[in-house]
Amino acid sequence: MSGQDQNFKNLVAHCKEYGFIYQSSEVYDGLAAVYDYGPNGVLLKNSIKEYWWKSMVQMQENIVGIDSAIFMHPKTWKASGHVDAFNDPLIDNKDSKKRYRADQLVEGYCEKIEKKINKEVDKAQKRFGDAFDKVQFLATNERCVKNQEKIDTIMKRMADAMTADDMVALKDLIVELEIADPENGSKNWTDVRQFNLMFNTQLGNISGEEGKLYLRPETAQGIFVNFLNVQKTTRQKLPFGIAQIGKAFRNEIVARQFIFRMREFEQMEMQFFVQPGTQKEWYDYWKKTRLNWHQVLHAAEKLRWHDHDNLAHYADAAVDIEFQFPFGFRELEGIHSRTDFDLKAHQELSGRKIQYFDPKTNESYVPFVVETSIGLDRMFLATMATALVNEQVPGQDDPNNTRDVLKLHPALSPIKCAILPLKKNDENIVAKAKEVFNALKGSIQCMYDDTGSIGKLYRRQDAIGTPFCLTIDFDSLEDNCVTVRDRDTLVQERIPIAELRAKLLPRVDMGGLLAKL
Ligand code: GAP
Repeated sequence: MSGQDQNFKNLVAHCKEYGFIYQSSEVYDGLAAVYDYGPNGVLLKNSIKEYWWKSMVQMQENIVGIDSAIFMHPKTWKASGHVDAFNDPLIDNKDSKKRYRADQLVEGYCEKIEKKINKEVDKAQKRFGDAFDKVQFLATNERCVKNQEKIDTIMKRMADAMTADDMVALKDLIVELEIADPENGSKNWTDVRQFNLMFNTQLGNISGEEGKLYLRPETAQGIFVNFLNVQKTTRQKLPFGIAQIGKAFRNEIVARQFIFRMREFEQMEMQFFVQPGTQKEWYDYWKKTRLNWHQVLHAAEKLRWHDHDNLAHYADAAVDIEFQFPFGFRELEGIHSRTDFDLKAHQELSGRKIQYFDPKTNESYVPFVVETSIGLDRMFLATMATALVNEQVPGQDDPNNTRDVLKLHPALSPIKCAILPLKKNDENIVAKAKEVFNALKGSIQCMYDDTGSIGKLYRRQDAIGTPFCLTIDFDSLEDNCVTVRDRDTLVQERIPIAELRAKLLPRVDMGGLLAKL
């Protein structure tokens, strides 16, 4: 197993061991690509939602939020194009009987070529040391240039085939590249065919097609169909946005990589409605704004842009923000210029006028839309993957004395303060510790823990990312102070109980994170 794979395995195990994420229905051996968030997971997830919501709604004069239903009128999905065009190209291997996404087989082939490029880069980096110029090397090294050209040609052919809905061309590409089943090496493939990703269910009181309902595959349509409701009830003028956080469902065929690709997941989406002709300017604005939001939490080199080669049916421009997950750079967020496709389609199919009257121009028109769409679960995975480190305990000489520590931004940490009585059998110390818990619990997420030795309790709090551990000892009974231990530096500070709230709240509050935007 490579170091990368081992790190990812450790991360998944850590998520389970410390109550962040469990496999759904584990007692029945689990349900593939469906996961449950545990006690620490739900707190971290809520903090990520809060960071997104406050930056998107609270801090914007012209963006409001909604929470629309998961079930929508089935015509919604006809109008949006999902019934006809929300497909993945599937291919089966006749020998292994395994099913794959044809585009992912091709991407996997290109990733192998990319690995060769990266190997060359690593080798050269070692050879040239500090003098190494990666950009120049990639542009001039013959093997790298050839391999990159190969990737570009293959990806272009795939994008063309997907755009033209040409499944024969896609199969030809797989055959020509001699792509084999990763399971058994067989090249005995079926034809490629399209598979719709929407789950459906049935209304109880209407049988047949009429009563067919879909579980929404994106939250965006709940925003589009409410455009006029929101605009009229909030008296917003263009440009303005509507934001929403909610569940989405996709019948993913190849569901893997833990919570990266799930069948039930959460999206945080914002549709920004603009005057036709100004979409490019707003697309650029939201690209910049969203990248900045990520960079407040993650180092710039962990993020990169990926322009779509194969535009979705509704878009005139689209780009992904990719994050360096433990298994490589993958899509974390999409920014899409969706034109007037959705509002126009709903207008046509519903027969209702869905237009904005512009008081500046005295005209009515269908607004254009720029969308930002991020998967909450992917953001969770990115945050956990960055935060989890195994390091030598600060201040200790022994390199073998290590700890797992989750270096989350304190505003995101599930527990902000752990309250740890040094003697769990001493009534007075326990009473004092409870007093501290009660003094803080209204404003700070705390945990009271007396279930082990102080060393073990510290390690456990490090592993869940608690920024401050407060210990209550015999001195606390005399001086009404507690010892506050900082997770990252391990520096200890004596603080009067009466001052704890005022001193700690600004250090763990979401405001600190939002101020960086
Ligand atoms: N409304 C536009 C839209 O849904 P998308 O690129 O299909 O666009 C947006 O999805 C984001 O939703 C992705 O960038 C990703 O973070 C997340 N996402 C999509 N499919 C997912 C899945 N199966 N599991 C987890 N997250 C997913």
